[in-house]
Amino acid sequence: MKMARLLQRLGRLMLVLNPAACFILLTEGKGKARAYLSHMWWMFTLRESLPVFTTSPLLIPRVRVEEVFEGIDISHVELLYPMPRPGGVKVEELIIICAIVRALNPKLIVEIGTCEGRTTINMALHSPEDAQLITLDLPPDSPPQGQKGAIEGGLDYRQMGIPKPGLLFENHPLKRKIKLVLADSTKFDWTPYEGLVDLVFVDGAHDYESVAKDSENALSITKEGSVILWHDYGVVEGVTAALNKLSERYPIKHIDGTSIACLRR
Ligand SMILES: C[S@@+](CC[C@H](N)C(=O)[O-])C[C@H]1O[C@@H](n2cnc3c(N)ncnc32)[C@H](O)[C@@H]1O
Repeated sequence: MKMARLLQRLGRLMLVLNPAACFILLTEGKGKARAYLSHMWWMFTLRESLPVFTTSPLLIPRVRVEEVFEGIDISHVELLYPMPRPGGVKVEELIIICAIVRALNPKLIVEIGTCEGRTTINMALHSPEDAQLITLDLPPDSPPQGQKGAIEGGLDYRQMGIPKPGLLFENHPLKRKIKLVLADSTKFDWTPYEGLVDLVFVDGAHDYESVAKDSENALSITKEGSVILWHDYGVVEGVTAALNKLSERYPIKHIDGTSIACLRR
């Protein structure tokens, strides 16, 4: 594992010392090359904002979103708070998630990992008027998650500088569709929701065990025709390894151009 981490760091360091920097130096001069390098260094130190080269291979087949959701319309998708924080759901991923919500017309949506509530509010925006969205994040008195490391465990909202989950929707009219639950998703009692949920977005803790547990729960609360989406496949090691394993039993697909993995049951 130590070796893998060292290789990851070396790989990212090579991004900094890449031929592009030399090219900029030769064609645009010292100033531009220095600006480029300082930007790359900033990216390098912000581990979460870079595509991380996971040690697990990407085994899940990559398909275009239209292959999973025939007729899906991504020609026009309205977004609230479109710009992501570093490491957050990318604009194009948010567009695809919202288009899936529109295509699916879900009555009950579950999100694991609320954070500031950016994906929550956008899923609420694109869901039917009578839809309900349950979103889970950790209670304020829970121990910090990031102790396992940003890559293995993922940071919790407090470590990302977000004082409480759901800030983006707490005073928004769309709040009427959203129920925020403060609980550890891996320990939460999901039995009242068994077989009832149309769409689950798994984006909570990012270590292998938690992703495996959240996925198991997502499977138990969904039914035939439901959809499960995961964020950070191919970006975070725990997510990638857990989904590779799960894909031995379920026909999970990796949506092209994104880190979203998708299971249409
Ligand atoms: C990557 S962020 C979620 C981002 C959000 N889904 C979005 O699209 O903007 C992960 C969130 O999961 C929360 N989290 C981590 N472990 C959790 C757990 N065991 N149960 C519930 N939430 C958890 C963190 O506090 C953090 O806010």
